[in-house]
Amino acid sequence: MANKENKQNMALVIVIAAVASTGGLLFGFDTGVISGALPFLRESWGLSTGQEEWVTTAALIGAVIGALSSGRIADNFGRKKVILATSIIFAAGSILTGAATSPTFLALSRIVIGIAIGISSFTVPLYISEISPTKIRGALVSSFQLMITIGILVSYFSDHAFADEANPFSWRWMFYVGVFPALILFIGMIFLPETPRFLIGKGKDKKGRKILARLEEPALVEEAIQKIKEDIRRDELAETNWTEIFKPWLRNALFIAIGIMFVQQFVGINTIIYYAPTVFIIAGFSGAKAAIAATIIVGVVNVLATVLSMFLIDKLGRRKLYFIGLSGMAVSLAALGTFFLFKDSLGPSLKYITVGSILVYILFFAISLGPLGWLIISEIFPLKVRGLGMSIGSLSNWLFNAIVTFTFLKLAWLFTAPGMEITNHGAATPDPNPAGAFYVYAVIAIIGIIWGIKYIPETKGITLEEIEQHWRDGKAPNEL
Ligand code: BGC
Repeated sequence: MANKENKQNMALVIVIAAVASTGGLLFGFDTGVISGALPFLRESWGLSTGQEEWVTTAALIGAVIGALSSGRIADNFGRKKVILATSIIFAAGSILTGAATSPTFLALSRIVIGIAIGISSFTVPLYISEISPTKIRGALVSSFQLMITIGILVSYFSDHAFADEANPFSWRWMFYVGVFPALILFIGMIFLPETPRFLIGKGKDKKGRKILARLEEPALVEEAIQKIKEDIRRDELAETNWTEIFKPWLRNALFIAIGIMFVQQFVGINTIIYYAPTVFIIAGFSGAKAAIAATIIVGVVNVLATVLSMFLIDKLGRRKLYFIGLSGMAVSLAALGTFFLFKDSLGPSLKYITVGSILVYILFFAISLGPLGWLIISEIFPLKVRGLGMSIGSLSNWLFNAIVTFTFLKLAWLFTAPGMEITNHGAATPDPNPAGAFYVYAVIAIIGIIWGIKYIPETKGITLEEIEQHWRDGKAPNEL
């Protein structure tokens, strides 16, 4: 009987986590969708490089705003209501971007979507971790990163489906279609419960216990309630104690959280995720549709390698993956830079070499820094300041992402004759050349390796309490 109940509970938890993860899918979809839309925006509105960077970066600016405000909103209104609200913002943002009448309108609508991305990047993992039984929490939370990569892939497929070279306004449908996953999230969330953790925190013990009885193994319900109450007491203490994170004993943890997000973003990952079709067009692909098709392969490798990393991360450990990943990225970035430098002598083969190098690059990113950035920031802070530490980490992530995204095309133009614009058919001579940008990212990958030798901790198989003790003892990160 108890066994049957356990199984039912587990199935319910998985369904709940799957529905809530749609929030991750939307995050991926709405960041990835811009890649296939850019070549069409360029054609329909003749966007300048600066305008292209604006509409791409706008979502990230929104995400910074969303991430900044989400902690407090989720604590006041509850996780469920906030996720419901983000699904409405996602849907409204999709309609607004699709219907945009000017680049400024588009950029503002992308800020709206970005706010939803920023809020959900914090609230959805929080919701999932609070409804998960302890035993499978790690797996359920890390599935969020997988959903982001799946969302990116779905956006590439959908961009490809709507890319119609006879219609320069194809981009409208690419944006409109984002309404559907938002609706799925909205309808699904209506049926999902608020988290027991939030309810008990608001003094609604009876309701919280009832929901917990449906999620947790029956024998563990009371224990779980006690644990929640303990956590809440500790959090209340932390409220008054948040300056703790800036104390000397936690300086390394803070430095690692910001540092790993710096490396994750400054190796240029999102210049590929958002600009891959643009880069492929510069490499010689003719037409947006073919360039977006090549981008789909990038999206597939990203998803598959993320699955692989979920198996490797607890076997090989964090440090090994970090160094393997960054070495692979440094080499593939330097190769990309060199191929673009000798662009003219490589001729038509450049496009195949570019796709190959980018696939190698994305593989190494997805097995290492992609999941590692988010994992490490969730492990290195003591419970008392974990929420704050993680939000500083994710805020850094969005900020660094915005800087790289806002400067990529400018960096590409820096090495090219001024005044030229990218066209979708490689007609501009000379074309912009991203060689310099890729070299810069390669150098950052090498700096990341040197930094990591001292600062990347090996947290595999170590309890969070042991990590806290390690900092208290004043030991170095690489002594873990
Ligand atoms: C990064 C995102 C990136 C994604 C690509 C994440 O870990 O934080 O910026 O777009 O990986 O899969």
